[in-house]
Amino acid sequence: MKNMKKCFILLSSLWLCAASLLAGCSGKENAGEKNSIRIGVSLYRGDDTFINNIRGELEKCAKEYEKETGVKVNLDIQDAKGSQNTQNDQVERFISLGCDVMCINPVDRTAASVIIDKAMAADIPVVFFNRQPVEEDMDRWDQLYYVEAAAKESAVLQGSIVVDHYRENPESLDLNGDGVVSYVLLEGESSHQDALIRTEWSVQTLKDGGIPIEKLTGGIANWERSQASALMEQWLEKYPGQIELILCNNDDMALGAIDAMERAGITGISVVGIDGTTPGLEAVESGKMMGTVSSNKELYAGAVFGIASSRALGEEIPAGIELEEGKYFKCPQQIVVKNHK
Ligand code: BGC
Repeated sequence: MKNMKKCFILLSSLWLCAASLLAGCSGKENAGEKNSIRIGVSLYRGDDTFINNIRGELEKCAKEYEKETGVKVNLDIQDAKGSQNTQNDQVERFISLGCDVMCINPVDRTAASVIIDKAMAADIPVVFFNRQPVEEDMDRWDQLYYVEAAAKESAVLQGSIVVDHYRENPESLDLNGDGVVSYVLLEGESSHQDALIRTEWSVQTLKDGGIPIEKLTGGIANWERSQASALMEQWLEKYPGQIELILCNNDDMALGAIDAMERAGITGISVVGIDGTTPGLEAVESGKMMGTVSSNKELYAGAVFGIASSRALGEEIPAGIELEEGKYFKCPQQIVVKNHK
C-alpha cells in the first residue's frame, strides 16, 4: 500500500513535470503576444508553517517556469496577516496592477464572495487554496479553482499510523496496560473545514481499526505551536500519567505538544500530526513524533501555479493537473513514519 502510494506520487510528479513542459512549449508559442505574466498571491498568514512551505514551492515553480518557457513571471506575494480587510485591499491592488490571475489563500473562507465579486468584475481568474470557499461561491463562475490536501484522506491516514503501531505493539500506546488508549486532541481553527473533518475521521479510523480508546480532553489551538504548547502544559498537570496519545490536526500543534512534554520532562507519549512540514518531518526523523501525513508540497504548489499560469496565458490547464468538477484539485498525501518515508 505504502509502495503503491509512493509510486503514484512519483508518477504524478513525472506527469506534472511533463505537463509543465508541455505548458512551457505552448507558453513559448504564446510568447510572441505575451512574454510576461503577473500573478498576485495573498496568504492568510505568512507566518503559518505549512503555508510558508507552499510559498517556497510556488517561488521555485515560478523560477523553473521562467527557465523552461522564457515567459517572465512577476509573482507578487502578500501577507494578509489574518485580516480579511487587508486581503480585500490586496486583491484590489492586484487588480489595479493588472494581474493576469490571483492565487488566494482566504483569511475567512466564508467571505470569499467579496473577492469573487471583484475578480469577476475585472475578469481575472482566481485559484483559491488551503481554505475552501463555500460551494455556492465556487459555483458562481467557471474561472474559480480550488487546490487542497483533502481533509478526510489526511485524517484516515493519520488514524492508520496509530492503528498500525497499535497492532504491532499495543503496549507502546496503552502505556498503563489498562486495555484502553487514553488520548487528547489538539484541533485547528473551528472555522476551518480541515479541523472539523480531520478530528472526526482520525478518531473514527482508530475506532474502525479496533483500538479501544477514551478521550480525556481536547481543545482548539488554532494550528499554532505556542497555543498547543500552553494547552498541553495544562493537560499534563490535570491528567498526570494518564495521557497515552496526542492526536493533532497539524504538525505545528504536534510540535507544541512535544515542547510542553520536553519542558515537563515527560517521554513515552505518542504524538501524530498532519502536513509533513519541514520541522514536522524532522520531528518524525528524530523520533519525537510517531508519524505525520505529508502532502506533496511540490505537487500542491505545482497545481496552484500550473492552473494560474495557464489561465494567465489563456491556455488549457496542463493535462497532468486533473481537476474534479473542472475546478477542484486534491493533492496526493502519504504517511511518514521513521524509516518509512
Ligand atoms: C494545515 C495547517 C495550516 C492551515 C492553514 C491546514 O490545512 O494543516 O497546518 O495551519 O491549513 O489554513
